[in-house]
Amino acid sequence: MKHPLLVLGIETSCDDSCVAIINERFEVLSNIVSSQIDVHRAFGGIVPEIASRKHLEVLPLVLHKALEEAGVTLKDIDVFAVTQGPGLLGALLMGVCLAKALSFALKKPLVGVNHIEGHIFAIRLEHPEVSPPFVALIVSGGHTELFAVSEWGKYTLLGRTRDDAAGEAYDKVARLLGLGYPGGPIIDQLSKSGNGKRFAFRVGLEDEDTLDFSFSGLKTAVARVFAQLTLEGRERTSLLADLAASFQESVIRSLVKKAFRAVEITGYRLLVVGGGVAANHRLREVMQEEGDKKNVRVLFPSHKFCTDNAAMVGACGLFHFLRGRRDGLEIDPIPQLSLGEKQAPSG
Ligand code: KG4
Ligand code: ZN
Repeated sequence: MKHPLLVLGIETSCDDSCVAIINERFEVLSNIVSSQIDVHRAFGGIVPEIASRKHLEVLPLVLHKALEEAGVTLKDIDVFAVTQGPGLLGALLMGVCLAKALSFALKKPLVGVNHIEGHIFAIRLEHPEVSPPFVALIVSGGHTELFAVSEWGKYTLLGRTRDDAAGEAYDKVARLLGLGYPGGPIIDQLSKSGNGKRFAFRVGLEDEDTLDFSFSGLKTAVARVFAQLTLEGRERTSLLADLAASFQESVIRSLVKKAFRAVEITGYRLLVVGGGVAANHRLREVMQEEGDKKNVRVLFPSHKFCTDNAAMVGACGLFHFLRGRRDGLEIDPIPQLSLGEKQAPSG
């Protein structure tokens, strides 16, 4: 008997080299992520050229490990799915070249995947029962976007950031406070010991009737307070924790407000949150509380499927493959690839 269809996903849009294998039931057989954080930390952020070189170096090992862990060989793979964009051109190119080479050598189909759509599909890996319609909030280092998902594969862009992405704001604030890189997990952790009410930061557009976001002013506000208050010793430690917690509360307030406004406008009863920032413990807590209050189901992927991974790329590729999509060897990375038609919110 033929084994269930196997999809090998490849993700290299930013600084994680990822290969995963899933089957046609969206079950994850392996999900390998090789993080480059240690390489980029010294620079306080991602250096695109280094990211590409590192992908080239580690991808063969990551591929080998993914096959080994799934207990299969390349000959067992039926479909190759790869992130085509958005992301860093050189980094994307490494994944796309590997996928094309595998597809060509093994004579198996290739499917290019939109990274943001991949983040939405992450929810299917652990919640196969989930089906549209729902509102999706994707919050990562490169994106902050709100979608109405009327059916799988059909997205209306309701709002997006007009400047920095939420994760980018975390990373920039952490850098200016001298906390290190990447900022999200560090601020998440530090905030646990801070007073999030100490500083009242307003977030751009938070009270305006738009589902767009703006986080660059918030970063400036944190910088201003930090510059005014240079304290020593224990007071400095507590100031940093209070600043981190107050910043975090503000970001979350804005995300929660807009996401639930989108729920109200669409009338959908399910909210799916994804992307690296969705790993944030406080965001998960506040979203859940608000969902309980408003009788809206709120779903997050587990941490490993929030941050970049190839299982979500495999899941998205599988969906499009089953719908008949086949890409040729001519596909190229598309750094600015977008998802969904932008539509003005109404209601
Ligand atoms: O989805 P992702 O892995 O990569 C992109 O597609 O951008 O997201 C990475 C972003 C980074 O900005 C990182 O600081 C943020 O997600 N992040 C977090 C947390 N973990 C990762 N932000 C807030 N809280 C976290 N726990
Ligand atoms: Zn991502």
